[in-house]
Amino acid sequence: LAAAAFSAGAQDYPGSKPITLIVPFAAGGPTDRVARDLAEALRKPLGATVVVDNAAGAGGSIGANKVAKAPADGYTLMVHHIGMATMPTLVRNIPFKVDSDFEYVGLINDVPMTLIGKPSLPANNYKELVGWINANKGKINLGNAGVGSASHLCGMLFQNVLGVDMTAVPYKGTGPAMTDLIGGQIDLMCDQTTNTTAQIEGKKVKAYAVTSTKRLSTPALKDLPTLQEMGVKDFNVSIFHGLYAPKGTPAPVLKKLNDALKVALKDADFVKKQEGLGAVVVTDRRVEPAEHKKFVQSEINKWSPLIKAANVYVE
Ligand code: MLT
Repeated sequence: LAAAAFSAGAQDYPGSKPITLIVPFAAGGPTDRVARDLAEALRKPLGATVVVDNAAGAGGSIGANKVAKAPADGYTLMVHHIGMATMPTLVRNIPFKVDSDFEYVGLINDVPMTLIGKPSLPANNYKELVGWINANKGKINLGNAGVGSASHLCGMLFQNVLGVDMTAVPYKGTGPAMTDLIGGQIDLMCDQTTNTTAQIEGKKVKAYAVTSTKRLSTPALKDLPTLQEMGVKDFNVSIFHGLYAPKGTPAPVLKKLNDALKVALKDADFVKKQEGLGAVVVTDRRVEPAEHKKFVQSEINKWSPLIKAANVYVE
């Protein structure tokens, strides 16, 4: 009886039971940043406690699988990113189906990436970086958050553009990877501005370029050239983040979640925090579940041939 009272039925969801928001990467990274900011902004519209739970590993597929297998009652949600569109191509037999094991609640934001280096890297601009890379072939360690992560995708595309193989050093997220980059244990990383802006501002890492097609307006990032300006044609990597629930979550629950998401995305504090880190909060129709699902499918169709053409290692 207590349990029943504790977790409300679909009609009076969420009741007093806390909602768990799974982040499939380690705390302190960009996905975690988006999830914690969103959890804060969801609390009021949902009228519930939203607790972030980091379930990291295997490039995000461990956490995603946990959500795919969770009870479809609205009390286990997930913030995930472009990995939902790249894993189906990058990782053979992932233990879940991106299109049929999840409910798509709505898209949250788009985040550009930055190419950054350890503080002692003897290159102070993109051109010098390419010179250093060519002079150190076979000795370069590139940090990422595992196959299927955004940093893995961007790092793989960048290596492909330069025609230089680097040693991938996978972490449970680019939060821990950033610690090692600042410490000089790894040399390079391509990571989202939500995680790199503060480090670039604090001159803890060297910054070389942004992966967006236009320069960014964020003060700490506005002087960074785009990779396209640096002659890397068609390099355009932007990381979307979406909100997901297990397949079969009742429609009234999904409606309440989507309504709360729309309120959260307009929350002035949420928008200020995200924009201050170079992220762009979604204001278009991709916040609608059907559009969110269509967008992810279009990203799968876009990235699959690019990943195959770059013959990236598939696990
Ligand atoms: C990624 O590279 O996919 C993300 O940076 C992982 C994370 O959020 O730590």
